[in-house]
Amino acid sequence: MCGIVGYIGNEQAAPILLGGLEKLEYRGYDSAGVAVLDGDKITMVKTKGRLKVLADKIHDGADLHGTIGIGHTRWATHGAPSDINSHPHLSRNGKIALVHNGIIENYMQIKALLEGEGYTFVSDTDTEVVSHLIDYYYNGNMIDAIIKAIHRIEGSYALGIISVDHPGELFAVRKSSPLIVGIGNGENYIASDIPAILSRTRDVYFLEDNEIVWLKGDKIKILDTDKHEIKKDVFHVDWDVSAAEKGGYEHFMIKEIMEQPKAIEDTVCPRIQGGEIVLDDIKLTAKQIKALSKIYIIGCGSAYHVGVVGKYVMEKLTRIPVEVELASEFRYRDPIIGKDDLVIIISQSGETADTLAALREAKKRGARILSVVNVVGSSIARESDDVLYTWAGPEISVATTKAYSTQLQAMYLIAMHIGINNGKIDEEQKEHLLAEIQTLPAKVRKIFEDIAPLQNYASKKYGSKDIFFLGRGLDYCVALEGSLKLKEISYIHSEAYAAGELKHGPISLIEDGSLVVALATQEDLFEKILSNIKEVKARGAKVFAIAQEGNTAIEKEADFVVYIPKTENIFTPSLTVVPLQLFSYYVAVNKGCDVDKPRNLAKSVTVE
Ligand code: G6P
Repeated sequence: MCGIVGYIGNEQAAPILLGGLEKLEYRGYDSAGVAVLDGDKITMVKTKGRLKVLADKIHDGADLHGTIGIGHTRWATHGAPSDINSHPHLSRNGKIALVHNGIIENYMQIKALLEGEGYTFVSDTDTEVVSHLIDYYYNGNMIDAIIKAIHRIEGSYALGIISVDHPGELFAVRKSSPLIVGIGNGENYIASDIPAILSRTRDVYFLEDNEIVWLKGDKIKILDTDKHEIKKDVFHVDWDVSAAEKGGYEHFMIKEIMEQPKAIEDTVCPRIQGGEIVLDDIKLTAKQIKALSKIYIIGCGSAYHVGVVGKYVMEKLTRIPVEVELASEFRYRDPIIGKDDLVIIISQSGETADTLAALREAKKRGARILSVVNVVGSSIARESDDVLYTWAGPEISVATTKAYSTQLQAMYLIAMHIGINNGKIDEEQKEHLLAEIQTLPAKVRKIFEDIAPLQNYASKKYGSKDIFFLGRGLDYCVALEGSLKLKEISYIHSEAYAAGELKHGPISLIEDGSLVVALATQEDLFEKILSNIKEVKARGAKVFAIAQEGNTAIEKEADFVVYIPKTENIFTPSLTVVPLQLFSYYVAVNKGCDVDKPRNLAKSVTVE
């Protein structure tokens, strides 16, 4: 979490830093700051609140003079959001300024050491120890001081550093937090993510852990901790800048919801060639597939919810037992896992701290890692044996929509690939599934054709205090995501239950007027969910149901129904989730919530 950006060149740095931070606000937005180096003077402005507060304070950067600078947008971990806890942080003599993304785990020990040396601290952050520590080790050579400091600190960090003793230079280093270098013409950049620099350059270096960057306007040196220079390949970003712009939509979330048909197409279609599934560079052989004894699917948040769908789908198509697990649990529970197991890691950003740690844990135990990632070159992608990229394009809204949908496609493709290779899917079924998956984009578009009634319904329900989501089988998996979507952006309390569990507790929460969203797209379970709907209705609930086209029996029980086009059972989640995303979106808009940047959340959770 937190976004950092740095610029060195011939233009005024502050407006460029603000432009970059605007694209990183998805990483955190409770405070922001910049520091600019002008000759031997650092000017720093930082403030609690959104980036807009900072931009207004410095007149969009016009107040700050200097062509070298660093900027930060914060998601607080240590120390509440406040002006003083905002980044950058200065060393005690004010000569060094730095921005940090990550957590310094041993900051208390370092703080005690530095206090013993006469250092005083002004903030409650873990970051401030790093600026003082670099100052403590500084002996005329910044690289040496940085190397000594990173040997002493534990935890995760991406750091951007400037110093008045080094006018004309900018330093950076990373460990377990993302950082890239942008390569310009007579100017260079550092940033937490590509969109921050995309309007300025398309050529980047991805950094590995413990690589130190030494930038001048016309020079980039990347060093290891023994000060050996590292040569890297330039990665050229080929996506369009407009992909990270709102393009006329009121919010990124609705734009990204609407982009789902194309994102699904881009993820699926290139992988079906001549009636076969072709999974890029995946090296998992048919022999290895036949030997698989178990599959684990691991992720956090919505990525975990994709995994829950993945379990149902994969067990059905491959007949291999699948366990789906939250990364934060998996990493600490001494899992039983070995070389005949496949671990599927799901992550949009490819940087989620718990997911990355789970990957490393599984790898250490000998399992093969196949990751499903959206951000090319991210840490998870780089550390996996095989990567299946989702081609969702940049997702800016904190609440995920198109990444979730493309991750579902990845589950289908992997499940079919394994099922075909281990002989559990025959030719006829393969043909049918491959034909059907390719109809999904058109079916999602069909849902968009008639969203006014749903929009209208949401405008009547935004005052709800609690909303319950029920479903069975794959509908239960989607209910988890629908409920999360609603609560994260509208702040309405919401729970998702497997409908069979209703009578084991949750039904006591149902009272007159409670809103229940009942997912009823599973034909074989339709009668069962219908009974559950009747049970909540009998206790006064209002029911919003989602069913497959033609299943009009639902009309008798539900107060409001949205139909999804008919599809093969395993693909229903791809369609069912769409009205749920739209419902959440319209509820949140009606409540006046900040849809793209919900309170307390961040899109990329790079701390534990
Ligand atoms: C955060 C985001 C979620 C996302 C989760 C996992 O909580 O707000 O939308 O599902 O992280 O992120 P990842 O990048 O690993 O998919």
